[in-house]
Amino acid sequence: STYTITVEPVGREVECDEDQTILDACLRAGVWLPHSCTHGTCATCKVDKLDGEVDLGEASTFALMDFERDEGKLLTCCAKPREDVTIEADLDVDEDLEVHPVQDFTGTVLVLEDIAEQTKRLVVELDREIGFNAGQYMKFTVPAATVDGAEVGEVDRTWSIASPPGETTRLEFHIRNVTGGRGTDGWVFASLAEGDQVRLSGPYGRFVLKTSDDKHAILVGGGTGVAPLKSMVRHALEAGEYDGDLTLYAGGRTRAWLYDVATFRELEEQYEEFTYRPCLSDETPEEVEASGDDPHAYAYGMVTDVIESDHERLGGCRGYLCGPPAMVDAALKTLMSRRLFPRDIFREDFFDES
Ligand code: FES
Repeated sequence: STYTITVEPVGREVECDEDQTILDACLRAGVWLPHSCTHGTCATCKVDKLDGEVDLGEASTFALMDFERDEGKLLTCCAKPREDVTIEADLDVDEDLEVHPVQDFTGTVLVLEDIAEQTKRLVVELDREIGFNAGQYMKFTVPAATVDGAEVGEVDRTWSIASPPGETTRLEFHIRNVTGGRGTDGWVFASLAEGDQVRLSGPYGRFVLKTSDDKHAILVGGGTGVAPLKSMVRHALEAGEYDGDLTLYAGGRTRAWLYDVATFRELEEQYEEFTYRPCLSDETPEEVEASGDDPHAYAYGMVTDVIESDHERLGGCRGYLCGPPAMVDAALKTLMSRRLFPRDIFREDFFDES
């Protein structure tokens, strides 16, 4: 059966199938609700239920506590309706944020190449145009497979779009291999090949470049956390969609773990408002020099160390942090110690796939 979801305080009504999540129905109907992980762990999508029965789905017990369940809260990314439902969401959204309804796409793998240690670039040509905001992500359907002799069904895996919104039919992704991961070790790094067809849906996420302001954007990425930041940087610079300065801190253990260094250096040459700071945590200037590279082309230490020595104060800036949760937490603390308010810091956590 299909039920009606009423979203307060805006009073929008959306049709939702009984085996569809409330979030999915709303995003596909162009009604934007807050969300981040879309699989029941981050709690960003928590809302009040005013009326109606739902199946709470796979909401984790830490994202939705027992007392919250008793109070009638639900996670829209997990909950499915059992009758008509009314929810009240805190729609504290950026008014300049254009809402691009989630849609299903098929695509052809145009490029699948190694770009760093355990890291691939995937470029997909879509069957039609997509609209998205710089920083958002897509959900891929990982095909069913045989794992250790057992049949396993399809699963979803999410990767951030690294290309800018101006490129409407060709999406770029950066994918880090995770040993034993179904989507990476078992698919992208195993059987996926150029020319293959893929299925994906999107765009998802609320980690987006605030194109309406002109604050100095401090973008901090660890590993493939650079992906959504690359989309933001290219959108800001090449499409002239941002009025402030941008500084990108990209962290890696060694040069072998960094990628697109030449691309970012070229952008830095071309655009005065852009600064690129590749940071090496496990390599010294001496080692870089000994291998014939210019030691001054890199900063040394964790991204947080480098930010600390670069800036006394960051009040009035805007922070965009993306990477493993531990790195994001550390960077958040650093920015706050430099007087950046939490409300001016946006984060996207990349959890390793299981
Ligand atoms: Fe993360 Fe729902 S719990 S979006």
